Amino acid sequence: MLNDAVRQRLVKAALEARRHAYAAYSGYRVAAALLCADGRIFTGVNVENAVYPLGLCAERTAVVKAVSEGCREFRAIVVVTPNAGAPCGACRQVLWEFAPDLHVVVADAQGRIHWEASLRALLPRPFGAGDLSEVEGG
Ligand code: THU
Repeated sequence: MLNDAVRQRLVKAALEARRHAYAAYSGYRVAAALLCADGRIFTGVNVENAVYPLGLCAERTAVVKAVSEGCREFRAIVVVTPNAGAPCGACRQVLWEFAPDLHVVVADAQGRIHWEASLRALLPRPFGAGDLSEVEGG
């Protein structure tokens, strides 16, 4: 699990990163702080686009940054949204790829933690790499 000092460090990192959120269309500014097994923390923000579907969520930005820097083992993620809104389904799936045992913490824009859960609880009956290997002729 996550000790309180680390939890607070992640909240602080996400709050700081949130200043860079690019939420030009929704106004819904999100940031994430992802803790890797080696102790590194990668932050990410949502990056929207005039072509709306091209916008990227904060969580996936953080995952892409971490994997690009050689980190694929994740322990925890703190997500900060204006109202402690939950991580979307697409982000849950992308996190699952690397860290089924991830601990997920959701906080609001003041850094108040609203809830915490395991990714396993947030993504029941997931699709994963194992499903592909069971395909006939695959
Ligand atoms: N958003 C995230 O960054 N993470 C989520 O898990 C939920 C939604 C962003 C996407 C979009 O830029 C804005 O919040 C409104 O949906």
